[in-house]
Amino acid sequence: MSNKTIPDTQIKQQYEYIKKVSALNENRASKYFIKTFGCQQNEADSEKLAGIAEKMGYTKADIPDVADLILVNTCAIREHAELKALSVIGQYKHIKIENPELVLVVCGCMVTQEHRINDIKFKYPYVDFTFGTSSIHRFPELLYNQLMQGKRYFCPEESEYLVAEGFPTARESTYRAWVSIMYGCNNFCSYCIVPYVRGRERSREPEAVINEVKSLVENGYKDITLLGQNVNSYGKDSNFDCDFADLLQRVARIDGDFTLRFMTSHPKDATKKLVDVMASESKIAKHFHLPLQSGSDSILLKMNRHYNLAQYLDTANYLKEKIQDITITSDIIVGFPGETDEDFEDTIKALQTVEFDMLYSFIYSPRIGTPAAEMENQVTQENKNKRFNRLLEMQNVISLSRNQGLEGSVVRVLCDGESKSNAELLSGRTDGNKIVFFEGDKNLKGKFVNMEIKRAETFALYGSLK
Ligand code: 5AD
Ligand code: SF4
Repeated sequence: MSNKTIPDTQIKQQYEYIKKVSALNENRASKYFIKTFGCQQNEADSEKLAGIAEKMGYTKADIPDVADLILVNTCAIREHAELKALSVIGQYKHIKIENPELVLVVCGCMVTQEHRINDIKFKYPYVDFTFGTSSIHRFPELLYNQLMQGKRYFCPEESEYLVAEGFPTARESTYRAWVSIMYGCNNFCSYCIVPYVRGRERSREPEAVINEVKSLVENGYKDITLLGQNVNSYGKDSNFDCDFADLLQRVARIDGDFTLRFMTSHPKDATKKLVDVMASESKIAKHFHLPLQSGSDSILLKMNRHYNLAQYLDTANYLKEKIQDITITSDIIVGFPGETDEDFEDTIKALQTVEFDMLYSFIYSPRIGTPAAEMENQVTQENKNKRFNRLLEMQNVISLSRNQGLEGSVVRVLCDGESKSNAELLSGRTDGNKIVFFEGDKNLKGKFVNMEIKRAETFALYGSLK
């Protein structure tokens, strides 16, 4: 076992607490509810917490009002995410007043920061306990202590961030699954809070990942995403003799009909070897999410990204050359400190050069404790908004044209059942993760179908079954 994995003895201790909480729940129909903010990593963590809650005798509640245990799994990536979480915690006050037995827990990235723990401590006195991302495996113990002693507790971070194996997962979907392959980040991009709230990189053993995917495929999962803050660093913290490209290839060769995805990649570490594996393995989705962040070299330097635009374009071009019909998506931050109109124009030009299929665009949000928050020349809100809107306008034109390129083609789609926006239609996702609406039987949910694309819009495709 890797020395980054929590020793079995500690996991066994937690199983003792699981038993003790189950015993308390034996003659009660206790229910849990989890509200999740943030990225897929947080969603994956919540599925783990749900698995543990179920093992402790709780069943899932559809709404928070009827729950005996509520967990708010928070995000810290931008101020907006934190304010949303705090607002939801505020809304849960009335549930606690009506049901004083309710255990209200706040966990995740936001409460891995001292100043936010203090907010919870003093401004949200009805929150029972908090724990950060390094203590997920201690959830049974923390809950048991709370149930027995009823004392508020703000769990300090563990001295080391390790990998927890051996806990159950209660997945939201029966056909799409997240599989974490590593946790944490070592990159310290100057704007980003993640390295401070998720600790240093640590990888799961290749066998643990492969066994988890095998079991998912055996259980009918069709779309599997390998997750990590920077998957390209997989294994660098250990001596597995298996880098990310090797792992991806091994997973892609597992028997069964499924699509394999991964996110997120850092451009500085996205290797040609990885692209070659993608090109040669048919189960790997032809989709690459490659966050550019900015098209200006001087901003990339200040962001501590360790690549320039030319290097990024090299990788993007290699992808396009090796993988026909590749979908490339990206993240962009506008309004990073010191970003001039010219820097921003460089980003616009980069969008036009690469022609991303889709963009996740963000307005820079200063994060306490990160170097960028202390930098001079913070961009005004007005300029941030102006640039953000211009970016969206430009990307919308590009997305539409990329999607129109698919009109008339036949693609394979994994059906997600009835569309949430139009009950008459089904929705699904292409290999490139584009959303497609089509008519069909709702029993197709969770199945692959072939589809001719009839019409394209900026954010969606419309198809008919073949
Ligand atoms: N402000 C705005 N966007 C940010 N991101 C990370 N930190 C910040 C921040 N402080 C964006 C980056 C990253 C994505 C997940 O969130 O684009 O790739
Ligand atoms: Fe944040 Fe950079 Fe790490 Fe991504 S690679 S999580 S942006 S520090």
